[in-house]
Amino acid sequence: MGRRPERKARRRGIWALAVVAAVAGLAVAWVAWQGSRSTAPAGARLTVYQNPRCGCCGAYVSYLRGAGYAVGVVKTEEMEGVKRRYRVPQQLWSCHTAVAGRYFVEGHVPVEAVQELLRRAPDWLGLALPGMPSGSPGMSGPREGPLVVQAVTREGLWREFGRF
Ligand code: CU
Ligand code: CU
Repeated sequence: MGRRPERKARRRGIWALAVVAAVAGLAVAWVAWQGSRSTAPAGARLTVYQNPRCGCCGAYVSYLRGAGYAVGVVKTEEMEGVKRRYRVPQQLWSCHTAVAGRYFVEGHVPVEAVQELLRRAPDWLGLALPGMPSGSPGMSGPREGPLVVQAVTREGLWREFGRF
């Protein structure tokens, strides 16, 4: 009679272990799934220049991090100077300017475009999604059609890079 509670306790211990193992297994699977969803090339790093009071810029930084990019943020009141330094054509200006290696990524550009740029590594200045289109990454509101991303050549000209 004295042994029964002991056995019960042992059974409870086994159950507890099984639950812990299941939770750990789920956690590992979740991390692997998140990893497989990441579109960031290994070691991809961006620096985002933004005005300190820009809300959608912060939302875009969160979006990049969620996609697996390491993101450094530089808050500055001199966004015009930053855009001129990286030679972003004025007609394509948006709020923030990101820099990935030798490229600028102007505005709320989707990560699929950034990934494609880094993979192809063309001799361009960068990519731009002019304005701040509703429903683009980091922007609220409904999508009003495809996001037309522009590629900017070394001559400072641009043409459509893709629709996302
Ligand atoms: Cu914005
Ligand atoms: Cu912004």
